[in-house]
Amino acid sequence: MSGDRPDHPLTGPNAHLVVTGGAGFIGSAFVRDILARHDGTTITVLDKLTYAGNRANLAPVELDPEQAARLRFVAGDIADPAIVGSVIGSAVDGESGAAADMPFGPVDAVVNFAAESHVDRSILDPEAFLRTGVIGVHVLLEAVRAAGRPIRYLQVSTDEVYGSVESGRSVESDPLAPRSPYSAAKAAGELLVQSYVVTYGLDAVVTRGSNTYGPYHHPEKLIPLFVTNAIDDKPLPLYGDGLQERDWLYVSDHAGAIEHVLRNGASGETYNIPGSAEMANRDVVAALLDRLGKPWSLVRTVPDRPGHDRRYALDGSKLAALGWRNRTSFVEGLATTVDWYRTNEPWWRAARSGDWDTYYERQYGSRLAHGRAAAEISAATEA
Ligand code: NAD
Ligand code: TYD
Repeated sequence: MSGDRPDHPLTGPNAHLVVTGGAGFIGSAFVRDILARHDGTTITVLDKLTYAGNRANLAPVELDPEQAARLRFVAGDIADPAIVGSVIGSAVDGESGAAADMPFGPVDAVVNFAAESHVDRSILDPEAFLRTGVIGVHVLLEAVRAAGRPIRYLQVSTDEVYGSVESGRSVESDPLAPRSPYSAAKAAGELLVQSYVVTYGLDAVVTRGSNTYGPYHHPEKLIPLFVTNAIDDKPLPLYGDGLQERDWLYVSDHAGAIEHVLRNGASGETYNIPGSAEMANRDVVAALLDRLGKPWSLVRTVPDRPGHDRRYALDGSKLAALGWRNRTSFVEGLATTVDWYRTNEPWWRAARSGDWDTYYERQYGSRLAHGRAAAEISAATEA
């Protein structure tokens, strides 16, 4: 469709993708979905396995020998030039870098999901967001530039770079106005990518996805936090008035849209990936409680997130013109998600270990102490 990649599908027999952050929520869905097609694509996952990364997210691949043979997992940091150089196959300094190590052959594309991804943690500790989101992206871009062969680069970004959108929908040409350390780091990463397209002629595309939900979502985020707390009859900490709006995108739709842009997007272009349900947080919470059969009385109104963006909304015309449509309604996606958490307790209980209690106390201890019962709402389960 674009003039940039007329004859290379980027997935299929002999295609080799490097997927950074491929053990996280959306990256692992991308890897699972592509490998499950059994079309010959090979994938190298490079992931630092932070608290949010989890090898178990790739278990469905590793349980199938045919898929497992087409996956290579490398534990490492995208901000480490030696490991990145060895995975992407760029020229590396003999003294400081490892030799290129690519059993699947030359790399055709790099899809960068790796990021610190939680706004609340970016407010508590911003530094890691900058290291991965800015330095890490720079290291990846340098490795692609040094590879000596054409490699397509896709930067996974977010609707949050537009900032809070009081009315209407963001189009790709709107100014960036990030308002949290998370979204500022994501905006910086995007700008670096665009600078490499202009300055060095890199073949790169950017996607800006909407709030995503689905199975394997780390339980720190709204939907999985509230589902797992509700399963345990624990309080659900709703920030402020709960009328903040997000447009919810099912995870396999997000992963599919990223692949579509990888294959069809024009170099230097950015594509919004909207969801299929613009909803206030209160209505999302009511819908998940309804699916679980749990009462609204679990919901606590707690002090708001500082700088909380009121609303995100994306215009998806550009991606639609490229031939992409979402497939999953919110009702269907939420039912699948809630049911997945109900039947995969060992997965989410393991994710709520390590530093979880420390984080939870820091983020919610005082908030819940100052919380109060959230006012009832009506007709909230229609979504
Ligand atoms: P996630 O936190 O679940 O996963 C991030 C993954 O990146 C983890 O596996 C982690 O170990 C890895 N990682 C972190 N730092 C790394 C580093 N320095 N080197 C290598 N690996 C590292 O995040 P997610 O929700 O899957 O988001 C993936 C991408 O999509 C991010 O770039 C995020 O900004 C973007 N995004 C997310 C959403 C959403 O709603 N979740 C929406 C739009 C865009
Ligand atoms: P989140 O899942 O953190 O995504 P983002 O901040 O990237 O949109 O939060 C989604 C919405 O839910 C956001 O408006 C903040 C709100 N929220 C709560 O009210 N309570 C919580 O405990 C969390 C984690 C989020």
